[in-house]
Amino acid sequence: MALMCPLGWLVASLCLGTLWAVPAKERRKVEKPKADLTLYENLDLENYDLTVDNYGDILDLGNYEELYDYGDLVPKIEVGTLAPRPKDPKTLPELGETTAGTPKLPPPGGAGPVPPAPIPGQALPCCLLCLCLGSSVYCDDAELEQLPALPPHTEYLYGRFNRIAAVRARDFAGLEKLKRIDLSSNSIRRVEADAFRLLPSLQELLLPRNRLGALPELPRSLRRLDASGNRIPSAGLRPEAFRDLKQLQFLHLSDNQLDFIPVPLPESLRSLHLQNNNIRTMHEDTFCDSQDQGQIRRALEDIRLDGNPINLSLFPNAFFCLPRLPTGRFS
Ligand SMILES: *[C@@H]1O[C@H](CO)[C@@H](O)[C@H](O)[C@H]1NC(C)=O
Repeated sequence: MALMCPLGWLVASLCLGTLWAVPAKERRKVEKPKADLTLYENLDLENYDLTVDNYGDILDLGNYEELYDYGDLVPKIEVGTLAPRPKDPKTLPELGETTAGTPKLPPPGGAGPVPPAPIPGQALPCCLLCLCLGSSVYCDDAELEQLPALPPHTEYLYGRFNRIAAVRARDFAGLEKLKRIDLSSNSIRRVEADAFRLLPSLQELLLPRNRLGALPELPRSLRRLDASGNRIPSAGLRPEAFRDLKQLQFLHLSDNQLDFIPVPLPESLRSLHLQNNNIRTMHEDTFCDSQDQGQIRRALEDIRLDGNPINLSLFPNAFFCLPRLPTGRFS
């Protein structure tokens, strides 16, 4: 949290107060001179991949790990909208809940040298636990055990590298603008049925490196799902789990315990990552319709089946409609 202080004048005074509660190592990063806000206009805040190592270096965010061009998936962040939004009375009652259990609150009486500036009610939950930047909420590496109350206009939520174990239905309830949820590298085991399913705008749900034994229910608006690095067996997917996701382009379920390739796969799919599972066999119709030899599935360019026991040479007629053969064992 304190690392983000230089980003926003609106949190500056509160963060200064918090500095005293931050370990010296992190404090050094805070004190590193940062460019002023005009520099952030050239920064693609969406296309970066924060790791624990580069976390302090907010200006070196260019090396996003994904190889794909997400095209219109890349949201437009308005870095100019740092000014607080109009006060929304709905967020006020949730403040108490948000501040409860705050790990890095300043010690009592240690408010720091700068008297706190007046902060609009809506900004307060973000200032204490996270940073709100336009419609994005950044809560990475904040030792969260549960999600804080989010402003109602939130579009992008980053809650990576925390200790969240469960996602409750109320965590995202009513957040109709939410487009991306990134809860990578938490300890999520349990997701309540309505946690994601009812979000009408959700396009990207990123849950890699958690402890899921089953895939949560998904909204039809989804374009990108990453639940790699969990413990999901095939029994953890509902039958035809992806059939109705007509916009799904990226389905990443590598490093799980799947026995089968989930079917049917929506025509919109571009990238299917199933490497490092336990897939031994497949149906000839998994990718291509064997009744329709003229079929072409142009979109599905990237299939990874390496790291599975399956011998792909046994299914010579399964790939005719694809632009490229899957990656995997062919011998
Ligand atoms: C994989 O299948 C092909 C085709 O039947 C076969 O020739 C090859 O020996 C198999 N490889 C393994 C490692 O089982």
